[in-house]
Amino acid sequence: MEPSTIGLIGLAVMGENLVLNMEHHGFSVSVYNRTAQRTRELVEGPGRGKKIHPTFDVRDFVASLARPRRIFLMVQAGAAVDEVLAQLRPHLSPGDVVMDGGNSYFKDTDRRSKEMAAAGLAYFGVGVSGGEAGALNGPCIMPGGPREAYGLIEPILTAIAAQVPDGPCCTYIGPGSAGHYVKMVHNGCEYAVMQLIAEAYDLLRTACGLNARELSDIFARWNEGELQSYLIEITAKVLAYVDPDSRQPLVDLILDQAGQKGTGKWTSQDALDLGVPIPAIDAAVSARNISALKAERVAAAEILSGPTEGAAPLGRDFVEVVRAALYGGMILAYAQALALLRAASHEYGYDLNLSEISRIWKGGCIIRAKLLDSIQAAFRRSPDLVNLLVDAGMSEAINRHQSALRQLIQEAISRGIAVPAFSAALAYFDSYRRERLPVNLIQAQRDFFGAHTYQRIDRPGTFHTEWE
Ligand code: 6PG
Repeated sequence: MEPSTIGLIGLAVMGENLVLNMEHHGFSVSVYNRTAQRTRELVEGPGRGKKIHPTFDVRDFVASLARPRRIFLMVQAGAAVDEVLAQLRPHLSPGDVVMDGGNSYFKDTDRRSKEMAAAGLAYFGVGVSGGEAGALNGPCIMPGGPREAYGLIEPILTAIAAQVPDGPCCTYIGPGSAGHYVKMVHNGCEYAVMQLIAEAYDLLRTACGLNARELSDIFARWNEGELQSYLIEITAKVLAYVDPDSRQPLVDLILDQAGQKGTGKWTSQDALDLGVPIPAIDAAVSARNISALKAERVAAAEILSGPTEGAAPLGRDFVEVVRAALYGGMILAYAQALALLRAASHEYGYDLNLSEISRIWKGGCIIRAKLLDSIQAAFRRSPDLVNLLVDAGMSEAINRHQSALRQLIQEAISRGIAVPAFSAALAYFDSYRRERLPVNLIQAQRDFFGAHTYQRIDRPGTFHTEWE
């Protein structure tokens, strides 16, 4: 039997779809799964008659691969990755390449990279975005690991990735955990944009009194303009979906408690560690956390009240305000995500190319959006751009959209509708653009109670004052 070009372990939906995608592009694939039944279902079902080689033992799996071996892991992030690596390692030889395509925590990826490198093995943390459909038809792929081994996997990864007019949605991201870090921040941005959309939906529904069908039409129309993006597109589809049993919009029947698997939280945690402000992403993580307090919220709704004056319903004009505010909010969310990537690139030595990252995010991934054309252009003009907002094109756009952001937030606040992501995004803008912030007072207070010292604007040096 001809050795397979690549092997894949972990045949849940994402893994299975990646196998079919690889095979579709002409690569023969050996597969292995913890439960043999899943492997049989693949080769007797959608994989029937294809160059997919089932194996039922890790040793046979490894033996079935061409050398140097290329192995893609699609197992659940966490302990399962270490377990699979422990099973694989005795059978691997120096020069073999192992890729982890899950949403692994980047510090785990750094640890695993070092352990594998010590055995002469190349380890890649590979961010894969695009969900089940993306895995099958072309995801966005963010591989990070040893540069010298990238050539061994590049032809496969670029072939199976989504394609945009300026190339495949896959590029070498950087060393060590760079790929998983960039995927983590992609997800943080995904959280922020999803929360902005949810807040826009809430206002249109609650303050304008629009129903799901009307909202679907609005989102579909928005998707034809500057807001065009995967998340706006699927929002229109979600809002249009009618539950076959109840004949009601399904979205109205879904419990308002958001799940999360960790990538958004890790983005906020690491941003705090690096001292990088990403308040729109933080707000989105907190919004999911507060949503999870369903029982508490139901009880609190009996006790706590909102504004007593009933505000008049908003007219159709407000729809355009929400649209423009959403675009402004999206610019601010991407700006925060990219500012974090810039800082992480320096801190962790990733040497990220933000123009290339923006380019590959234009296709296949969950945060793909027309806006990324302008973002890519901004970082192509100035690879070292300190913040997206100070790019000439972007500053013009955010300056123009800020009044809609202000109007949206004012209307929401006067009605007692929480808009944490919009508020955090605008506060970031209003703080970032201000030459002088009120933290002179904080410095004075710190010096008052703790002799923490301060600097002055009228002369150099470090000062302490006996304030009383
Ligand atoms: C993607 C998604 C994907 C997954 C998220 C969901 O890019 O394809 O980000 O990786 O859907 O991890 O994350 P939560 O369960 O935390 O919302």
